[in-house]
Amino acid sequence: MSQETKLFTREELKCRNTREDAILIIHNGVYDVTHFLDEHPGGEEVLMDLAGKDASEPFEDVSHSSDARQLMGKYKIGELVEADRTAAKPAYAPQWTNDTPAENNSWSSWLVPLLLGIAATVIFRYMFL
Ligand code: HEM
Repeated sequence: MSQETKLFTREELKCRNTREDAILIIHNGVYDVTHFLDEHPGGEEVLMDLAGKDASEPFEDVSHSSDARQLMGKYKIGELVEADRTAAKPAYAPQWTNDTPAENNSWSSWLVPLLLGIAATVIFRYMFL
């Protein structure tokens, strides 16, 4: 899609949710799946449930193959206008975050037993030696 990319707003796409005219929004791209409904290996039902809406998350939840991603290109009719786009994120973004509280936990997880060990050694020495 090198020349003119057709731009759509989410508002105007909302009503395109019938078997005669079904579109999906996936990662800010707009896909006309009307003629794909019958052929979709995952069934027509899942596509119709999401027609007119943003299907990026359900699409990724299914872990579609690279073949499926290539096939999508055939149905792309345009993209969302700048104002309606969501922030791009990698297709295989991990669902967890590595933030600092986890590191704090690992600190205390060995510090507490260590202090208990030292305390036990001191008490043992005073009482029995
Ligand atoms: C233009 C968009 C889409 C295309 C081109 C597409 C294509 C495909 C293809 C080729 C497969 C076969 C398995 C594979 O190669 O990954 C598949 C399976 C499937 N798709 Fe899609 N798909 C699209 C959108 C969606 C969406 C929005 C959903 C919503 C949940 C969905 C749900 C499924 C499910 C449930 C399967 C069956 C998985 C299985 O039985 O193993 N698909 N799709």
